[in-house]
Amino acid sequence: MKVLLIGSGGREHALAWKIAQSPKLTKLYAAPGNPGIAEEATIVALDTEDHAAVADFCRSEAIDFVVVGPEGPLVAGLADVLRSAGIAVFGPSAAAAQLEGSKGFTKDLCARYDIPTGAYGRFTDADNAKAYVRAQGAPIVIKADGLAAGKGVTVAMSLDEALAAVDDCFSGAFGAAGAEVVVEAYLDGEEASFFCLSDGKTALALASAQDHKRVGDGDTGPNTGGMGAYSPAPVMTAEVIERTMKEIIEPTMRGMAESGHPFSGVFFAGLMITAKGPELIEYNVRFGDPECQVLMMRMKSDLLPLLYAAATGTLDGMSAEWRDETALTVVMASKGYPGSYAKNTPIDALPTASDTTKVFHAGTAMKDGALVATGGRVLNITATGTSVSAAKDRAYAAVSAVSWDNGFYRNDIGWRAVAREKA
Ligand code: AMP
Ligand code: GLY
Repeated sequence: MKVLLIGSGGREHALAWKIAQSPKLTKLYAAPGNPGIAEEATIVALDTEDHAAVADFCRSEAIDFVVVGPEGPLVAGLADVLRSAGIAVFGPSAAAAQLEGSKGFTKDLCARYDIPTGAYGRFTDADNAKAYVRAQGAPIVIKADGLAAGKGVTVAMSLDEALAAVDDCFSGAFGAAGAEVVVEAYLDGEEASFFCLSDGKTALALASAQDHKRVGDGDTGPNTGGMGAYSPAPVMTAEVIERTMKEIIEPTMRGMAESGHPFSGVFFAGLMITAKGPELIEYNVRFGDPECQVLMMRMKSDLLPLLYAAATGTLDGMSAEWRDETALTVVMASKGYPGSYAKNTPIDALPTASDTTKVFHAGTAMKDGALVATGGRVLNITATGTSVSAAKDRAYAAVSAVSWDNGFYRNDIGWRAVAREKA
């Protein structure tokens, strides 16, 4: 099978690494890629926003299957263009990608199918939103409706903070994404991410993970795209997974099919495990980054046939096998991230990969033959172990073998699970 992978982050490096191990693969291409992905795939200079150009490349190279990593091209309709050109593609249509692209869309679906999630209101003007906020009281959560690069959510612990967040959204802080605002009940519990393949009619549970969204140790400082993750998440017990499938994933899949937009791709459910059970915080329509890195380290099965089955409606009867180990990844980011940071800073040394340790590249580039950091999140230092503590020790030992003056990282990835193991 000839495969084209779209994307350039740590998630796509992990997907490329795993797909490259498939006996079914004959040739892997990637666009735009990064130096880590280049070790696994042939990089092609394609403008991935030019959907017609991507389809032309697939035709001229006889690509059998396209795997789309990030949400941007999906929300913009890349999967639709490729499917109508007769090319199999992993990732939902633009209509189905609304599950991530519009929080209001997802909340309405939850309401129709009785999917557990926080009570909510949708607003297009500040006065009505504020009246609802005042009536509900704090804590309360204010969300820009559209894609805001993970920054459109305010978990307001006071009424003043909530009212200010409403004003921020409507004053254009998140551009068009904030033209509509969702106000949502605050959910209390432990967060977990859950991943599940769907071909539109069959769902196949993959695995769970826990991300660390705040930039600083002890979950302090601003939100980021994710500073580290581990899998599995201990809070996702077999019982919680079964309830998640039955109460959240399956009704979502049914709802999407009944609305005429069957969902094919991966459901990434952001969950709050509350005293009542799992509740949906949000959906993403692609793998998490850095959650994908730890999932791929744990997956025993061949990934490629699973993705292809999700794309072609043939998931029924398939299964996924996992290593009975924990995988943990530490994100190394450029100093200043998630604010502004210097570009093209030199990375002088990386740890050597082994069966238990792997470095996935995100914002890196080759400049004059040397590796440099060009992005906010730059490296994912990933390791497996027989416990979270063991995986953590191994990952941080590898982190200390990285020589990059402008890099920083959190020192406490996995702290919740490590505390549990020590209790
Ligand atoms: P999101 O961008 O929707 O993932 O939200 C960012 C973060 O805000 C989530 O990871 C949660 O930590 C938090 N959050 C979002 N919605 C809620 C909610 N209803 N209750 C509590 N925390 C929330
Ligand atoms: N790590 C969170 C995300 O990929 O959205």
